[in-house]
Amino acid sequence: MILSVLLAVFSAIAADASKVFHPLHVSLRQLVNQHEFELIRKDFLQALTQDGMLTIRGIPDLYKQDVLQAMEPCINKAKATQEATLRDGTRRRTLATHTSPDDSIAEGFRKASVLPEDEVHCQDFVDASERFRAAAGVATNAFASRLASVLREGQDEAGDRPLLVTRNGYAFHDFLDVVANGDHLEHFHSYHTPVSPSSPSNFGKTTDETIEWHVDQGLFIVFTPGTLVREDPSAAGSAIEGLTGGFYVRLSDGSTAEAKFCEEDDLVILLGDGFNQYINPHYQDNNVPLLRAVPHALSMIPHQANESRVWYGRMVLPPANAVHPVHDETFGRLRDMVVGENTPKDKAIALACSSSAQARELQTTTCEEGTLLCWHECMSLEEHEVSEDICAQQGLDLWCINPRGQLWDHRHGDFFPGCIDAAKAENATEFPRLPNYPRDNVTACTAETFQSFLLDNQEAAFENSVDLDGVAVFEWTVLNNNIIRGRLAYNGLFGYLALGYPSAGGDKNGMHGAEIIMAIPGGNYDAAIGFDLTMQPSINEYVIDPEKSAFRFWDTPVSMTDTNVSTSSSSARNGNDMGDGYSIAYDDCFTAITFESMGFHGKPFNVSGSDHFIWAANGEDYFAAYHTNRGHLHVNWLAGEASDHDHANDGGHDDEPTPAIPPASTPVASSASIAILAKATSLVTAAMVLLLNQA
Ligand SMILES: *[C@@H]1O[C@H](CO)[C@@H](O)[C@H](O)[C@H]1NC(C)=O
Ligand SMILES: *[C@@H]1O[C@H](CO)[C@@H](O)[C@H](O)[C@H]1NC(C)=O
Ligand SMILES: *[C@@H]1O[C@H](CO)[C@@H](O)[C@H](O)[C@H]1NC(C)=O
Ligand SMILES: *[C@@H]1O[C@H](CO)[C@@H](O)[C@H](O)[C@H]1NC(C)=O
Ligand SMILES: *[C@@H]1O[C@H](CO)[C@@H](O)[C@H](O)[C@H]1NC(C)=O
Repeated sequence: MILSVLLAVFSAIAADASKVFHPLHVSLRQLVNQHEFELIRKDFLQALTQDGMLTIRGIPDLYKQDVLQAMEPCINKAKATQEATLRDGTRRRTLATHTSPDDSIAEGFRKASVLPEDEVHCQDFVDASERFRAAAGVATNAFASRLASVLREGQDEAGDRPLLVTRNGYAFHDFLDVVANGDHLEHFHSYHTPVSPSSPSNFGKTTDETIEWHVDQGLFIVFTPGTLVREDPSAAGSAIEGLTGGFYVRLSDGSTAEAKFCEEDDLVILLGDGFNQYINPHYQDNNVPLLRAVPHALSMIPHQANESRVWYGRMVLPPANAVHPVHDETFGRLRDMVVGENTPKDKAIALACSSSAQARELQTTTCEEGTLLCWHECMSLEEHEVSEDICAQQGLDLWCINPRGQLWDHRHGDFFPGCIDAAKAENATEFPRLPNYPRDNVTACTAETFQSFLLDNQEAAFENSVDLDGVAVFEWTVLNNNIIRGRLAYNGLFGYLALGYPSAGGDKNGMHGAEIIMAIPGGNYDAAIGFDLTMQPSINEYVIDPEKSAFRFWDTPVSMTDTNVSTSSSSARNGNDMGDGYSIAYDDCFTAITFESMGFHGKPFNVSGSDHFIWAANGEDYFAAYHTNRGHLHVNWLAGEASDHDHANDGGHDDEPTPAIPPASTPVASSASIAILAKATSLVTAAMVLLLNQA
């Protein structure tokens, strides 16, 4: 349905098959360790300014072989596999996915990943790819962090203006901000060129490019050197035969050469046109030499019928909500325009490329028949029970809308294909706010009044207490018979407040599928109009949908009892089958839920040991929309100890993009910081169905 092909071809330059180029290789250690980096600083800069590429070695726990071995059996059969035939007849099959901080900002509303988790022949691949992508993310961020610090040093003090900004004024101050908040499109490609026995003389020659010369549109791309694998019917995966050639680059002197990689080269970094478009211009008044986007091409090396070339690439794009410095559109919207069916090809090309770029990304994006580009993915019309015909019969248009009947504005939220009068509909707006929003936080809602709220609303002092990120307090007392009296008090308005057990292995840090108790401020929830605030608040047990974050997918409590709730002074309770029950207290400033129970959802607390909880609060709207705050909580009941830190995953806050990486001015120096970097990139999200032609 939507098909636009952007391509600009260098006049077919016959690659000089004889010349080879060995890119600089650096180790991950050298990148993250300030001391070791100083020794290679000059080479590092030269590689990026003169060649535009380097390789990274020594990435721990990369699991690259495992992924490459497990890839073919999955890609052969997975439903999500996309296929393209390239100009020389090579068949390329692709599994696409996406890592992005938007995952937490957007709070999902979409399936976690299109990597085919539930298909039996993909288990090994999905398992290995999760670890592999996390490690590749660490390397990506280590590179970005180091490059950011180098760029920053070259910047004079006056040059303090941000690199990019969002419409609402959030500033991405430097390269690291941009990368940390950018979209990372990830593709697993398998290339197969039909054997043509009639032309054995072509063997080893590069007569025709499989992918033409181009520069990548993103900031940079991180990829695995192309690897040849052979079908192995006796094993679950393929046999790795070794690296394969055919990847050509244009060097700064204009000549072309085949880039040669070694087994030790874990990943390759290749700079893209994004540097020309918004990085280089920013630094050009300073002492930073211009970084070079590398033109490159692929020519498949002929192979046996039972072999394929497998490849992983991660394209780092700017944040979707940042505004392009020249086009005055957000990158997210530009991307959608580039792939949208109504954009004239030449306009799209102009939008996609820097003015000076002589080369353009060869890009094909297809939303297949029966799907609609909506919320950055191709959504099935059938699943949403709409089609152009169905809408037309109602005199309406098929559009990507939200439950409030508003049009997708290329921002985040709960969007799906639906019928609407597009001419009359408005663009998506913020959720209507709670009646008493914003709080009077100068005189009424202060740290002092929060303390009084805590004191006023308790029968007896709690024995233990832990501060949660400075916005909430969790308190508890262990009573007889393994009953806990506990309270989660939130320094914010009552939009909702929830606490519960994360689901082991659930997406979004265990949020999907979590078993929680949740207090809501009204009744008759409707995603289009929110809660009816004239109705009584309630607190009940809910199970968060295993795939969909939006409240409308799981708004029916699993157990419901009459709730007596009152404001501020007297709190009332409802019963559960494990103790006395749950209750709510709130006023014009604060919210608290209290439980006196042996557990949630019939699952007893681990009173002699410790429990892990997640919590979330919304102090802004009555749509149970994004959480304003959330986090993890580990409680060791009897020891009276608790922590709001999670060693594996930090819940984080979602309001504005927050750089998830330590500032690079403090040199990233230890394996501990690598662990922090890993957090930033281990978020696995849905795919954009963007096929980036990549070698
Ligand atoms: C794959 O190709 C190689 C080389 O032609 C051959 O020796 C091998 O038997 C083939 N394997 C299968 C399973 O066809
Ligand atoms: C909605 O947003 C689009 C793109 O930003 C804009 O062109 C259009 O005029 C807006 N429509 C309305 C009704 O505001
Ligand atoms: C008070 O509320 C305003 C508006 O919501 C917010 O910008 C400000 O940071 C708050 N101040 C404090 C001290 O919380
Ligand atoms: C709720 O409150 C009413 C009046 O205050 C009281 O009669 C009723 O018993 C309470 N219900 C529960 C379940 O506590
Ligand atoms: C209970 O807590 C202990 C100590 O943290 C832990 O080792 C154990 O696995 C927990 N048991 C359950 C069922 O969670």
